[in-house]
This record gives sequence, structure tokens and C-alpha cells, in this order.
Amino acid sequence: MQRIAIFASGNGTNAQRIIEHFQGNPKIQVTLLLSNNPDAFVLERAKNLHVPTIIFTRHDLYHSNHLLDILSVQGIDYLVLAGFLWLIPDYILDAYPSRIINIHPALLPKYGGKGMYGMRVHQSVIEAGDPESGITIHYVNANYDEGQIIFQEKCLIEPGDTAESLANKVHELEYRHYPEVIEEVMG
Ligand code: GAR
Repeated sequence: MQRIAIFASGNGTNAQRIIEHFQGNPKIQVTLLLSNNPDAFVLERAKNLHVPTIIFTRHDLYHSNHLLDILSVQGIDYLVLAGFLWLIPDYILDAYPSRIINIHPALLPKYGGKGMYGMRVHQSVIEAGDPESGITIHYVNANYDEGQIIFQEKCLIEPGDTAESLANKVHELEYRHYPEVIEEVMG
């Protein structure tokens, strides 16, 4: 059995799709969901799907071995970021080489970097007047949104699209592809 820990900071619609996708899979299991945000709705989603949750602080992540100890005791093989907003520190990158995956709601390398998440990304794409956007699934490295790209898919931006309508299109792509791409990477 290969085990995934999901890291998420917010609503958790992607986390939910990933958990549901692997339910009943004999080879891959979502074992744990970790969040830096005690108020994140993703915690409710995980509990409803019977996935144990852990809330951690900045100190836990950047100044202790607490998280790595948990990941190692739980036998976690892959870390999957789903709307997680903090940088992954070097000691975790070293412990999980090419085993940490993120999704970004735009076509990297455009619209990436610190502070570019969620609606801010879609707002920037709409303001720039781009004809298309999409999703990027990539390995995580020490910089925001710069790791090696694994998969991209595009969607068209039509006249009248807003940041909200673009977010809906991008979410659809995320739900359709993220669980499948994770499964392929782990296969
Ligand atoms: C997703 O669209 C994800 O791509 C994005 O946050 C959203 C989380 O939604 N991630 C980033 O912007 C990372 N830079 P969700 O909590 O409903 O899955």
C-alpha cells in the first residue's frame, strides 16, 4: 500500500475529490490530511470522509521535526498539496525527493509565485486579457510554483468570463485531472 498525506489550507474541494478517488483502492490510500489553518473547511470534508486530520503551526513546520516524525510513523510515501499556501521547507523536500506534488490554477510559468493563489490568479488572468488559462500539476521545489511540470490542461476564456466563471472552469479541470495524475505518478 502506498500512502498519501494531503496538505491543504482552505475549502478543500480538490482534497475531497482526491480522497474520494482513492477510496477502496487496494494500492493507494489517503492516510492523513494536514492543515495549517484550524478554521479550514477542508478539515470538515476530511472528517466526513473518515480521513484523520492534523493541524500544525508555523513552528511545527519550520522549526521542529514534529511533522516529519508524523509522516514517517504513518508510513507516508507522497505529499499532495491541494490549495496549500506555505512553502515546503528543505528538510521535507529532502525526505520526499520527487514525491511532493502541487496543483496551480493557471498555466505556469505564467501567474505563479508568492501570493498567487486562488482567486488572485484568476483575477490577474482576466485583467491581462489572456485567451486561455488552465491547470498545472508539478513537483514541488524550494520556490513557489517552480518545480518540474508533470501535466497541464487548458481552458478557453470567452467574452464575458469573470474571475469567478474562470475559477469554475479551472476547478472542473482540477477535479477531472488531479486525482488521475496523482495515480499515474504513483503507479
Ligand atoms: C485550487 O484552485 C488550487 O489550484 C489553488 O487553490 C485552490 C484550492 O481550492 N492552489 C493555488 O492557488 C496554489 N498556488 P480547494 O481548496 O477548493 O481545493
